[in-house]
Amino acid sequence: MNEMTSFDVEKIRKDFPIFEEKIHGKRLTFLDSGASAQKPTVVLDAVRDAYTHTYANVHRGVHYLSQKSTELYEGARETIRAHMNAESVDEIIFTKGTTEAINLVAHSFGLMSLKPGDEILLSYLEHHSNIVPWQLIAERTGATVKAVPINNDGELLMDQFTSMLSEKTKIVAVTHVSNAIGTVVPVKEIIDLAHAKGVPVLIDGSQAMPHMKVDVRALDADFYVFTGHKVFGPTGIGVLYAKNELLEKMPPYQGGGDMINRVTFEKTTFATGHSKFEAGTPPIVQAIGLGAAIDYINGIGFENIAAHEQALLSYATTQISALNNVKIIGQAKHKAAIVSFSMNGIHPHDIGTIIDQAGVAVRVGHHCAQPLMDFYDVPSTVRASFALYNNRDDVDALVASIKMVQEFFR
Ligand code: ALA
Repeated sequence: MNEMTSFDVEKIRKDFPIFEEKIHGKRLTFLDSGASAQKPTVVLDAVRDAYTHTYANVHRGVHYLSQKSTELYEGARETIRAHMNAESVDEIIFTKGTTEAINLVAHSFGLMSLKPGDEILLSYLEHHSNIVPWQLIAERTGATVKAVPINNDGELLMDQFTSMLSEKTKIVAVTHVSNAIGTVVPVKEIIDLAHAKGVPVLIDGSQAMPHMKVDVRALDADFYVFTGHKVFGPTGIGVLYAKNELLEKMPPYQGGGDMINRVTFEKTTFATGHSKFEAGTPPIVQAIGLGAAIDYINGIGFENIAAHEQALLSYATTQISALNNVKIIGQAKHKAAIVSFSMNGIHPHDIGTIIDQAGVAVRVGHHCAQPLMDFYDVPSTVRASFALYNNRDDVDALVASIKMVQEFFR
């Protein structure tokens, strides 16, 4: 069924060959895009074409293929720059994912600027990848990690944020969208408040980028990170956007080929811009695939995607709330299309296993957000995460499969 006239979800589903697969002989109901999204044919083709027709290492050869490969790799960087509205391609660093991007900032910017007594301000909504790198750096520098609490609906307590932001705070690092419960965090307000105290801000955009248009200059984010595989691109590729003025001051994170200006045994000088932070052969084809994915979602348009997903979220929330013994965890007013829930007396792993038999794929577990699970006093939840290719049939299949679980445990 098409939820909107300007957005044909059935046509979009045809762009994703995975939906031709049968799972346990059933139609695939894929509600695990928060963990990793499916890939459209244009991305698969871009990856195959790059390996088939233009493959060679980048930045290293004068021969035709190396130049062609470099052109495509750097073209992908420009696609991402334009998509995020960064000022310069030098501000777009390819990493292997969000985790590596945050580790890069923590190790480079963090080690450079933190000292004993300083504070790193996070939130209760963070994924482990935006907690653990900061803890490692805190241990090495004597800084302290603090986390802004949330209310029961899963919304950040902004008055607490304001009072926890002090002259000791040296960096704020928060997620844009909670991976576990879907809360959309008011990152613009956070950045403005932090900047008023001269504090730089890192935004983890992993769960935001598939759902909304992000403009790093409008946000005035200092660092914005995301991963390729959640935006319909390949695995092994991520992006760190960082303001040039910060990158210029930051030391390299890793040393190796391609990030140098001149090497002698006595001293090495480094390349500038993004090159300083891209040691070794980069994920060439993955970057090209990510560029194709970004072109693909821009072709559909974020207004269409957001309207479609919000309609699905509202339908799913109404249907799931009406079920007996099902509790939705995280009911923020502003949410991305993620529904996390638990069922009293039934372990999420049992729920996941039973509904898998109906061809329904969800994530069960702590979602790499154990402090958030501790806040809700649950060890884990079942999480249905939606993307642009999901439709009402997917919600109906999920609801029917939850009813199977209720039957089973009756
Ligand atoms: N971070 C991914 C998730 O939320 C893996 O499932």
